[in-house]
Amino acid sequence: MAKLKELLGEIEQIKQDSYKELENLDSLDDCEQVRIKYLGRKGKIPDLFNELGKLPDEDKAKAGKRINQLKSTLDERINEKKNQLQQLEQEKQLEKESLDVTLPGRRRRTGKLHILTQVLDELIDIFKRMGFSQALGPEIETDYYNFEALNIPELHPARDEWDSLYIDKGTLLRTHTSPVQIRVMENNDPPVKIICPGKCFRRDTPDATHYPVFFQVELLWVDEDLSFANLKYVTKTFIEKFFGPKFKMRFRADYFPFTEPSAEVDIMRPDGHEWLEILGSGMVDPNVLEAVNYDPEVYQGFALGLGVDRMAMLKYGIDDIRLFYRNDLRFLRQF
Ligand code: DAH
Repeated sequence: MAKLKELLGEIEQIKQDSYKELENLDSLDDCEQVRIKYLGRKGKIPDLFNELGKLPDEDKAKAGKRINQLKSTLDERINEKKNQLQQLEQEKQLEKESLDVTLPGRRRRTGKLHILTQVLDELIDIFKRMGFSQALGPEIETDYYNFEALNIPELHPARDEWDSLYIDKGTLLRTHTSPVQIRVMENNDPPVKIICPGKCFRRDTPDATHYPVFFQVELLWVDEDLSFANLKYVTKTFIEKFFGPKFKMRFRADYFPFTEPSAEVDIMRPDGHEWLEILGSGMVDPNVLEAVNYDPEVYQGFALGLGVDRMAMLKYGIDDIRLFYRNDLRFLRQF
């Protein structure tokens, strides 16, 4: 009897001690320590079961029941405490990571397209909507495509108009985008209706309106029933789309070896006093059609080559072409 009483006392003591410890702790580690201390393999509760073995059989059931009860309630309480602590810890963490949306943001600079790229994209878009598709050609060109096939034979005085940068005798940096006309016609049967945007190169001394590198968009439309009226309509339409209705425009007779007749187009800003030439154009010369085996009796067409840099200068009131290539961000950021 004495033994039973003693054991029950011990159980009660352990119960009170463990509950109290559990109540006072405030970390998950400590909580785990308490679990090990009481419920672990060598813990106080397994010890109680050893003691139980020493009791007379008739007392075992009663004491055993108490120990089991203690074991399961303590287990429950420990788990409960663990959950509480975990939740607290999470709340603390969230508080630490919380975002103050009233703080001023850090501004991130975004890049943008170069003004010439923007203008090129806009032009390409206008022409695509008029049904032209895009073709590209090489920047290093042969003498044949850059001159010969365009009706500019060697020793022809017109070659002087295109001060060229030669790589070797037969190759040069293309002086215009017109050679792409030939490449496209060589590889396609008529009708063709294309534009070719791209970079061109000339041995020019830089000044306010000239630069050794510049951009052109070439246009070519060949079909069975095209006239100068179509050329005029296409030109007028895209210029109005690009500049708006207020800019003035004029056709002026000119000469190009690859067109007959030929015309230049000049533009004036609404507030301006000077015409600036922006494109050359004309009806494709029969010799050019013959060079690509198109029958000039059946097919005609028109072509034009426009200076992208000059279009950009006119539209945005930029008075020096060199600004495009200096990469001064103070200039570029304005657009
Ligand atoms: N290729 C000429 C130049 O760079 C411009 C030009 C004129 C292109 C008349 C054409 C054209 O297609 O028909 O000066």
